[in-house]
Amino acid sequence: MKSTTRSSVGAAVVAAAQLASAAPAAAAAVVPTVHMPVHMKYGDNNKFATSLVLPYSGETVEVCYDLGSPDFWIFAPNATQNWGCRYLDCQGPCNASVSEAGSYDPSRSAAATPVEPWRANYAYGGGLSKQYKSDKIVNDTFTFTNPNGYSTTVADVRVALVYYLQQRTQIPEQNTCAEKPAYDFSIMGMAPYFSSPDPKVQNTTGPSFRQNLLEQGRISAPVQSLWMEKAPQDVRGTFTGAGLLGGIDTSKYTGPLVRIPRLKDLGYSLSEYYTHAANLSFNGVTPIPIDSTNTTACIIDSGAVGDSHNPVDDDAYFNTTGLRLNPKHPTPYRGSYLSWPGRCDDIPADRFFEYSMAGVREGETAVVKVPLRNYARFQDPVDEAMGWCTMAISLRGCGLNSPFLSAAFFAADDESGEIAIAQGGVAEQGSGVDASKVVLRIP
Ligand SMILES: *[C@@H]1O[C@H](CO)[C@@H](O)[C@H](O)[C@H]1NC(C)=O
Ligand SMILES: *[C@@H]1O[C@H](CO)[C@@H](O)[C@H](O)[C@H]1NC(C)=O
Ligand SMILES: *[C@@H]1O[C@H](CO)[C@@H](O)[C@H](O)[C@H]1NC(C)=O
Ligand SMILES: *[C@@H]1O[C@H](CO)[C@@H](O)[C@H](O)[C@H]1NC(C)=O
Ligand SMILES: *[C@@H]1O[C@H](CO)[C@@H](O)[C@H](O)[C@H]1NC(C)=O
Ligand SMILES: *[C@@H]1O[C@H](CO)[C@@H](O)[C@H](O)[C@H]1NC(C)=O
Ligand SMILES: *[C@@H]1O[C@H](CO)[C@@H](O)[C@H](O)[C@H]1NC(C)=O
Repeated sequence: MKSTTRSSVGAAVVAAAQLASAAPAAAAAVVPTVHMPVHMKYGDNNKFATSLVLPYSGETVEVCYDLGSPDFWIFAPNATQNWGCRYLDCQGPCNASVSEAGSYDPSRSAAATPVEPWRANYAYGGGLSKQYKSDKIVNDTFTFTNPNGYSTTVADVRVALVYYLQQRTQIPEQNTCAEKPAYDFSIMGMAPYFSSPDPKVQNTTGPSFRQNLLEQGRISAPVQSLWMEKAPQDVRGTFTGAGLLGGIDTSKYTGPLVRIPRLKDLGYSLSEYYTHAANLSFNGVTPIPIDSTNTTACIIDSGAVGDSHNPVDDDAYFNTTGLRLNPKHPTPYRGSYLSWPGRCDDIPADRFFEYSMAGVREGETAVVKVPLRNYARFQDPVDEAMGWCTMAISLRGCGLNSPFLSAAFFAADDESGEIAIAQGGVAEQGSGVDASKVVLRIP
């Protein structure tokens, strides 16, 4: 999810020298990493996520695993969600309680530290569409799992406690209290951490899960990789994979892992991972010309539901891909999701988008094939009633988000400011992390 904090690029945090000594001498060759099990379920508003096991009940809370923001927060008990106002930063007439199933109560956890005051406003989406407000912070020991049964327990995790969510609702039918807009119970930001004496640098609000691991010596560099395994057989199945903090598992992609340009210093809020628009083609044969004059920077964001394409000619795009505008799309078109004019099960398994990106090094190209079926992630009732399948792609803008990442392998080294992409979606389901194939830096 794109955060709306104003930011420019700051000094990378270097703690490698201090941290080298933290690794046990006997395992000097082993890269210290933290394996975060991730998944992406079928259904509305689902993105990359990990399941946080509440330390006192064993119940889980779905936590968005978000490359598009840096901070980690979760709802406190008895939190309020508010909506129904279409204007900037205004409180709406509608309130509802955040369900207990989506909240964490540190007072019930034996390992939690005393809560401390912490005033922060975590804002996401264009035009401050979601503002999560926190007033407290705590450390606890949490376990993270996914449906493969992988589980990682991390002690002394620092998390902000959110008591209030205000959502700006710009679609008229959401400006009634009858329909509750979707939201997240918790977001774990994986975007780079910034802290610099340079007054031009916007420091990360925090807490940053990755930065805490780095400072605690559990990882030795601000490096991460993220991949999904082979797609589930069922078009409505759950994708599973892993986020690896502190290293790169080189056994989880095919072809080369190619460094691509990371756009920085372009002014407003490019502290997340941005690159140029990719060349697009369908089934590897038909090019889809992209309007690159209006598409200067594309975010890579596991916390956003759909991808965005910006074809020069919409009709040609529809002819080539077989996709259609959703029958209830607003006129003029305002970025609603596209549709496949048939059942999701009938989307041919051999159709794919091919994204091709020029590498940083002369002559290198990153190529990622994303099966068309990977875009069937949830249903719009209007499509469903027509026997159509909603697809998590919209036109205009540029987003390499959850569907793209379901078939891509992503790696980042925030110390050198490098990012890299390879073909993902190839590892066996449940294959976890192969420690013997993990390297510290982008190879
Ligand atoms: C939440 O609200 C309920 C009902 O008002 C109250 O009984 C409970 O103590 C509250 N929980 C916390 C942690 O404040
Ligand atoms: C909604 O909740 C907020 C925060 O608790 C409160 O300030 C506001 O008055 C409530 N609005 C309504 C209509 O109950
Ligand atoms: C950001 O944090 C650094 C400490 O790392 C501090 O020196 C600096 O003043 C902070 N910058 C701002 C704009 O608050
Ligand atoms: C909580 O975690 C932070 C970040 O890892 C650490 O710096 C701090 O010392 C911890 N606080 C307590 C009270 O354990
Ligand atoms: C770029 O966007 C502007 C404003 O939306 C539009 O008027 C213009 O036609 C676009 N340029 C191209 C090449 O499509
Ligand atoms: C799309 O296909 C229709 C029907 O075959 C054809 O009439 C139209 O010219 C095509 N449009 C483009 C832009 O290719
Ligand atoms: C992208 O397309 C342009 C125009 O066809 C071509 O010149 C360029 O080599 C392509 N780049 C990649 C990485 O495929």
